[in-house]
Amino acid sequence: MGVRPAAASSEAGERGSLSASDGRFPEGFLWGTASAAHQVEGDDRNCDWWEFEQQPGRIADGDTSEVACDHYHRYREDFALLRGMNQNAHRLSIEWSRIEPSEGVFDSRQVRHYRDVLGELREQAILPMVTLHHFTSPLWFTRKGGWAAPDASRAFLGFVKHVADELGDLVGMWCTINEPALYAANGWLVGEFPPGHQGDIAGMYRVTSNLYHAHELAYVAIKKRWPDAPVGLSHHKFYFLPASNKRRDRLAAGTAQLALDRWPVAPGRLRKVVEATCDYIGIAHYWGQKVAFDPRRPKEQFIRRYNVPGLPVTEMGWSADPAWMRSVLNELRVLGKPVYITENGYATHDDAVRQRYLTDVLSNVQLAIADGVDVRGYFHWTNTDNFEWARGYTQQLGLIAVDRKTLERTVKPSGRLYARIAATNALPIDSAK
Ligand code: BGC
Repeated sequence: MGVRPAAASSEAGERGSLSASDGRFPEGFLWGTASAAHQVEGDDRNCDWWEFEQQPGRIADGDTSEVACDHYHRYREDFALLRGMNQNAHRLSIEWSRIEPSEGVFDSRQVRHYRDVLGELREQAILPMVTLHHFTSPLWFTRKGGWAAPDASRAFLGFVKHVADELGDLVGMWCTINEPALYAANGWLVGEFPPGHQGDIAGMYRVTSNLYHAHELAYVAIKKRWPDAPVGLSHHKFYFLPASNKRRDRLAAGTAQLALDRWPVAPGRLRKVVEATCDYIGIAHYWGQKVAFDPRRPKEQFIRRYNVPGLPVTEMGWSADPAWMRSVLNELRVLGKPVYITENGYATHDDAVRQRYLTDVLSNVQLAIADGVDVRGYFHWTNTDNFEWARGYTQQLGLIAVDRKTLERTVKPSGRLYARIAATNALPIDSAK
């Protein structure tokens, strides 16, 4: 189909150095947006999220992902928009429940669909970063206990190998698991994701442990088949700040951060998610909160969380500060690996706010690069406004608006701004600090 195989390490690998003074990003910097199959494709009915959406009260306004952005049929139009926005990369996920609708049974029609999708990105000269698990799992898998079941990582491996064999030549970079710690917390602690458990700490532990093994197995399997392709995962970095300088608040914030940033790698042994076996570090950062120790909250692990006074609060309800991006990135410097910002964005209906945030956060990315962090790409969440999980369509994080009735796409001013940044590989002069 006229598409060359991925020589991914050279595609996404060698970089020039940043000269911070001219406001430019390193040569070859990846400019992309990120999305997830279930949030954009529509009609994705064979997975746990679809079932969850049918339960009353689960999703804001009773919304469902039935239509989403109909990206399953409109991907060509969507990628043409991305090309028009000068994007050279795009992060998307392959829906496991479509590829493997029953255990061990692979759907060649769906494989062909994703070959077309990835092929189309290649035609548009957009490097695909492929996520293998972005919050959704097939029903056959969840019926067997899902990610909490002992053989979960093995079950996932069958899908991974199939995708590596059938689609790997088109993939530029791999992202095995999206935000494992956040996924487990939302599904087993908070109850906002399927299976909707609340306070199930033992379940959460089993899930993160299985996700860790799933990642490690997937890493080995992909590298065996595609040794040059960079493989990593995406870690969600919710930023916790101590409410005060008091020891108990610092301890409370540190514990909350530790719980989100680490996962069990062996019985009783926790390790940082970003230290998993990987060729690059994928980091998703959006927001944060203050944390105080509170002895009256045993059910909330004795912590009280609240927004940072004086900082903007996104429509998701959490504070955001573009300067946190620099700190988040600097924490990764010691690991000495290439870093990709796999997600970052701002939930708002006010696009002027998004534009300001975008330039501010990217100037902090530049500062981190000048500090010595090897940041090689930025994937804005997200291209089209989409199905925001339990929040349904109430949230807008996209650079492209989608009319909910006609599904017509309109690039927002923030999308045009991002297009200029990508074209020049630099921030607009007037936004330089
Ligand atoms: C998730 C996305 C989600 C975004 C905004 C990320 O944690 O990966 O799926 O849409 O946050 O809430």
